[in-house]
Amino acid sequence: PTPILFDCDPGHDDAIALVMAHRSPDIELLGVTTTCGNAELEKTTTNALRILDYLGANVPVAAGCHRPLARPLVLGTADGPSGLEGSPYLPQATSRPIAQHAVDFLAEKLRASPEPLTVVATGPLCNIGLMILKHPDVLPKIKQLIWMGGAFYRKSEIITPTEFNAYCDPEALKIVLDSGVDILMVGLDVTMQVLIEKEQFDELATIDTPLGRLVNDWLRFYEKLHRNSMGVGGAMHDPLALALVIDPTLVRTRPAHIGVDLGGTYAFGATVADFWGERGEKDNAKIAYEVDADRFFKLMFDLLRD
Ligand code: BDR
Ligand code: CA
Repeated sequence: PTPILFDCDPGHDDAIALVMAHRSPDIELLGVTTTCGNAELEKTTTNALRILDYLGANVPVAAGCHRPLARPLVLGTADGPSGLEGSPYLPQATSRPIAQHAVDFLAEKLRASPEPLTVVATGPLCNIGLMILKHPDVLPKIKQLIWMGGAFYRKSEIITPTEFNAYCDPEALKIVLDSGVDILMVGLDVTMQVLIEKEQFDELATIDTPLGRLVNDWLRFYEKLHRNSMGVGGAMHDPLALALVIDPTLVRTRPAHIGVDLGGTYAFGATVADFWGERGEKDNAKIAYEVDADRFFKLMFDLLRD
């Protein structure tokens, strides 16, 4: 299995990614760190603990940043006040986060690992950005950062130029982009192509287990908010990013230099890709631009099945 560190802000789609990470025989979940984003830090941390407790996973959870590095917190809107609405039967957490801050926990784990590690980040990059500032020595120990965020090609009218994780903490994103870390960007271009619609709900309904029903409850709630604001079913943003640890061939990628707009008005926080090398800067990421949605859903549902 591939050992990973998972930084997230659960959030329904982060929650499903967590479930997948725990259940996949191809992943060894070394630790979970939480950031503000879909809800305040206290809530995303509680949600991570609730999910891991429910799964019986013995994985350390370290809480991270309460707010973005250089601006006030904006919260996501797709997950309801607790960040994980729609799951009344999910018990409260019994375990607690570890005492260490996420940034120090991540650095310690990276340092201790004999091999460079994959880091998956499915929230605003506050923790990863701050870790790079505080512990720059661990950079060579990051094999790849798989980041859900950003948007590029805008092939579809349903994509906004500013994706939430980028918009919430664009300064942290800039630190990460400029750090030299190998980044795989999993943005709206691909995640808005993995939508949970009627066909997928029908499939999910065949997984008649407590976990299958829990994920169904989450997705019913999430899908409704998604549909009201975007007019399409729920996008499996974070589960897709996580799935790429297991099967990187689910997407096609192109290398590019990515910048983030810190001075814009309507494009503030937008990721801007230079595919033709016009800015004369070295490529700093691989951008996922095409996805095999059917294969993704098969992988996700298989992981939920007993
Ligand atoms: C991203 O923002 C959050 O709402 C989701 O959890 C996902 O990480 C999508 O823009
Ligand atoms: Ca997220």
